[in-house]
Amino acid sequence: MNGTMLNDRSSPLSLLRTRRSAKPRILVGPGPTGHELDEILTIAARTPDHGKLTPWRFVIIADEQRDAFGAVLRQALSEEDECATIAHHNKEDEFAHYGGTLIVLVSAPDQGHKIPVWEQELSCGAAGMNLMLGAQALGYDVGWVTGWRAYSPRVTAALCQPGERIAGFVFIGHSAVELEERPRPEPGDVVRWWMPPR
Ligand SMILES: Cc1cc2nc3c(=O)[nH]c(=O)nc-3n(C[C@H](O)[C@H](O)[C@H](O)COP(=O)(O)O)c2cc1C
Repeated sequence: MNGTMLNDRSSPLSLLRTRRSAKPRILVGPGPTGHELDEILTIAARTPDHGKLTPWRFVIIADEQRDAFGAVLRQALSEEDECATIAHHNKEDEFAHYGGTLIVLVSAPDQGHKIPVWEQELSCGAAGMNLMLGAQALGYDVGWVTGWRAYSPRVTAALCQPGERIAGFVFIGHSAVELEERPRPEPGDVVRWWMPPR
């Protein structure tokens, strides 16, 4: 795809063919307007979901809460790594203040339901994809990351209800640098035609 425009919004198909994420650390604001955010979240909530359980949540960390979020990350880092340096702690503040809008995608499965948790988690992943696509369709660049923060009990407790997990930190803004394509599998690498077992 070298030389091809990425996130080409000239048609639905071209966007799907050229869709590309951005690294959160290269995003700058502004993020979506209130109206755009409503639209993106409505699109994200229109996601396949076996049993109508809506096993996902979107936790928005408003700009005025970014300092407090950074404090949670720094506290979590101290607990994860007692040798963490000031530079490491500063990195947490940077993460908490990356440009654009920050939405935490939360997996909220109903553990006791007959629909397997696996299927509910798949639905959460699909909601994340739709969240990205909705924002990209509006012209935003999006980065979805996890890393140790998503698995930290301290961060999880700060963002989730009991039984929920962090599926990703999704930043929505504009890339400060030109996006580059990444290698993609050819269909032949990932597709096989089924044959009956012999
Ligand atoms: C659940 C999940 C977690 C991810 N976590 C990270 C991460 O922590 N750091 C990172 O650099 N990329 C992470 N990625 C990868 C990027 O978000 C993205 O998939 C990759 O850059 C290519 O995306 P694209 O196909 O949209 O261009 C994660 C992706 C998923 C689906």
